[in-house]
Amino acid sequence: MGVLSAVLRSLRRTTTISGLAVGALALSGCAGSSLDQSGSQGSGDEVKLGLLVPLSGVYAPLGEDMRDGFQLYLDQHGGRLGGKTVRVVTVDEGETPQTGVPAAQKLVTQDRVTAVVGVVNSATALGLRDFFHESKVPLLVANAGADAITGERSSPYVWRTSFANGKVGAALGPAVAEEVDGGVYLITADYAAGREMVGGFRKAFEAAGGKIAGEKYTPFGKTQDYQPYLSAIRNSGAKAVFSFYAGAEAVNFVKQYKQFGLADRIPLYGTGFLTEGGVLNAQGASAVGVKTSLHYSTELDTPINKAFVEAYRTKHGKAPTVYSVQAYDAAAALDKAIAKADGTGGEDIAEALGGIGTIDSPRGPWSFDADHDARQKYYLREVRSDGGSFVNAVLGELD
Ligand code: BEZ
Repeated sequence: MGVLSAVLRSLRRTTTISGLAVGALALSGCAGSSLDQSGSQGSGDEVKLGLLVPLSGVYAPLGEDMRDGFQLYLDQHGGRLGGKTVRVVTVDEGETPQTGVPAAQKLVTQDRVTAVVGVVNSATALGLRDFFHESKVPLLVANAGADAITGERSSPYVWRTSFANGKVGAALGPAVAEEVDGGVYLITADYAAGREMVGGFRKAFEAAGGKIAGEKYTPFGKTQDYQPYLSAIRNSGAKAVFSFYAGAEAVNFVKQYKQFGLADRIPLYGTGFLTEGGVLNAQGASAVGVKTSLHYSTELDTPINKAFVEAYRTKHGKAPTVYSVQAYDAAAALDKAIAKADGTGGEDIAEALGGIGTIDSPRGPWSFDADHDARQKYYLREVRSDGGSFVNAVLGELD
């Protein structure tokens, strides 16, 4: 099925199709064969941006952090990016592509935004790649790690300020192979992100001499009771576990891992989403000792990160997370690109994104690579208790 018919079907399902949406479709040539929306923009001195983040479902807290990070950058820059006043239209990505894809389509065809920032879920990002490619509207993915969208399905219009799933998993492989004497059990949420993070970890871990003791893929968004899986881990003889969970699933998994008595016997490793932000507050003491790989920690001891953490706390009353930073940096990337672009259309901005160079971020300096993915450092982190609260202490950089 073509992208055009998917858009039209989704618009037909929308109860209130405004005259603007119908007009936008006709003007953009949707009645013919082209989805090109690259001329859409705010007028004159204004640029209209879409923010597509989950505000419902298991990943809602991640979406709120992204919204807060994006807003902080705007506030710090007088509500302007690249010299233009920014108008933001925020929509709910929800939990899956069934909600995220139509929400993105609405931003482009109905709200006629110049660019979209956001997307948490890898499956949603994969479902959106062709739509943005054909619409010629830049999508700045500020979380979803689906490997293909900055790999074999890269597009001039898709840029990522976060990470590729396989790379975050791979970063931890050699360190675990060195630390663990025996087999490692793999367990993850069963969808693109989990499979790719585990796949990246497995490849790097086995290349460094590690052995796999077993693996399990738990239904995404539906698993609350991990006891049967924890029994399988206990009976496997594994000497450590590697996992990917995020949001509400990460809270349940880590708490039950401790309650089941595994935390003291079988060290738990994972990608950093397992113990990030609000998730870590909810896990509390259950998470102490969990080691993860990630491209950010609030504990990074740099002037730029300290200033960012303080500004974020002052504005939002809580610590930032990797999700906040990824969206903050998407705003920074757009700031540079809009300033450099020859015009304010989607194609102008997409082209300018290729020339923005290095972003000095709270995570450390990073830049877009040739496939539009973030080239950045990964850190080894360990959850520690810090005067009554819990933090991801930085143990060092990963190769
Ligand atoms: C993903 O689906 O790509 C993802 C979701 C939450 C955290 C990290 C990755």
